[in-house]
Amino acid sequence: MSSVRVNWQLKAILPVGFVLLAGLLLFILATVSLRDPVRHAVLIVAGAGAVAICGVLIVVLAYLIQRPMVELQEKIGLVSEGNLDVSVSFARRNDEIGDLGRNFNHMMQQLRESREEIELLHRTQMSRAEHLATLGELAAGLAHEIRNPLAGIAGVIEIIGRDLPSTSPARAVVKDVRLEISQINRILTDLLETARPHPPQIRCSDLNTTVEHAVMLARQQVLSKPIKIELQKAPDLAEVEHDSDQIHQVLLNLLLNAVQAMEGAGTVRVEIGSRDDCASVVVSDTGRGISPQHLPSIFRPFYTTKGNGTGLGLSLARRIVEEHHGRIEVSSVVGKGSKFEVVLPFRMPSAQIAAP
Ligand SMILES: Nc1ncnc2c1ncn2[C@@H]1O[C@H](COP(=O)(O)OP(=O)(O)OP(=O)(O)O)[C@@H](O)[C@H]1O
Ligand SMILES: [Mg+2]
Repeated sequence: MSSVRVNWQLKAILPVGFVLLAGLLLFILATVSLRDPVRHAVLIVAGAGAVAICGVLIVVLAYLIQRPMVELQEKIGLVSEGNLDVSVSFARRNDEIGDLGRNFNHMMQQLRESREEIELLHRTQMSRAEHLATLGELAAGLAHEIRNPLAGIAGVIEIIGRDLPSTSPARAVVKDVRLEISQINRILTDLLETARPHPPQIRCSDLNTTVEHAVMLARQQVLSKPIKIELQKAPDLAEVEHDSDQIHQVLLNLLLNAVQAMEGAGTVRVEIGSRDDCASVVVSDTGRGISPQHLPSIFRPFYTTKGNGTGLGLSLARRIVEEHHGRIEVSSVVGKGSKFEVVLPFRMPSAQIAAP
């Protein structure tokens, strides 16, 4: 059965009402019987009684408020020490103090649930990180082992290609094999670079040359496809401090992603320029685009939507660009295409520049 709810406004008004009432009574009595000594004594007793009742009421009220406040303070102290298994006993009261107690207990319940969730997430992530680290080591070892025989195969293919008569139809196959080998090589390089990263060898040089080199390599990969790769250089661009091998790898990864996003014919545009006191390279394509819900995941290691992808290309690209104190920005419209922009500062902090 629920008890009658008496709000604090009402409880606080009671002693005030009592004092007013007693004052009024005393005033009436005083005016009526000022000269009568017996009535005078009654008057004094009544006055003293009223004051005593008021005093008792105030003490009771102070106690009723004071006790929950002290308890609340103690419990908050326990919470700040990390103990979340606390609740207050005055939550059963049917007034504002009771509301406060119920809200406090509810908040503690939510905090306990959130902590459990965080702990669970932390444990899962830790085991996932360990798992990935082992996998990374394994992949790096494998990549290393595959690279040498692959170099051998590439050499043999080169010799076979040279010895074939110029009219032989096998020449086209040899070309395809060479492209496949360079693709495997790129994936292996990404894998090794992810597992055993090395700091960039920063030198001041022309960004146009680095980008052009990557564009040329990507064009080789699309010779047999109806895909155009356009390059707009910036001849007046000041030299940029960067590791040309690493930035080349970044651009090649972006270019190949752009090419792979194309279902049939399409165009990839590469534009070099400057933006906000930084050098910028924009790679935009007319491919399938990326949906907004997938966009936040594309830089995650091992995130891929391709059957033969490792999902390392973009995560590696971002790491390299961030080591250059730059950033990669992306925007995409499903069905229309994607735009990746690499922004690099012209100058790096002096400690990172390699000796000539
Ligand atoms: N230009 C793009 N257009 C559409 N989707 C893209 C584009 N670039 C990246 N993505 C999406 O982001 C994912 C991750 O790209 P990332 O380069 O990291 O790995 P991958 O290309 O799948 O594999 P790998 O680079 O190892 O061959 C891709 O699988 C693809 O779904
Ligand atoms: Mg890729």
